[in-house]
Amino acid sequence: MKNFLVAVAAAGVVLTGALADTTKEVEKLAKQYGCSGCHAVDKAKAGPPYRIIAKEYKGKPNAKETLVKSILGGSMMKWQMKGRKYKIKIKMAYMPAQHGVNKQQAEKIVDLILKLDTK
Ligand code: HEC
Repeated sequence: MKNFLVAVAAAGVVLTGALADTTKEVEKLAKQYGCSGCHAVDKAKAGPPYRIIAKEYKGKPNAKETLVKSILGGSMMKWQMKGRKYKIKIKMAYMPAQHGVNKQQAEKIVDLILKLDTK
């Protein structure tokens, strides 16, 4: 029993560490890719916070494809209503196509965004 509890506690530490790393990794990539002016993980700026994006799309079919397409081709008016749903204020009605990233980079950051802890 004691060993079991120790194992559970250790798993908890590893898990929490992994989640914190995901936040840091998303922040790092967002900065590198030039997204940070409009996005943060937990704060609404011109665009929605990445954690809320994760909450909205996690588990939905085609979540990854949809988000990659939005990054590469731009996105418009999707988040005005969603913002109300999550009680956040998004300052811009559209995201211009992000020409600074290629498909592979977009996929990489979307994978990480969808991994963010949303509890
Ligand atoms: C000029 C500001 C701006 C920049 C720069 C920007 N975004 Fe956005 N982003 C927005 C806005 C505004 C929205 C909400 C668009 C909407 O309502 O459809 C958005 C939405 C999104 C969404 C959700 C799209 C959807 O389909 O729901 C993702 C994912 C995203 N951005 C990722 C990124 C990434 C990754 C970068 C950097 C490569 C980036 N954004 C750069 C403003 C920006």
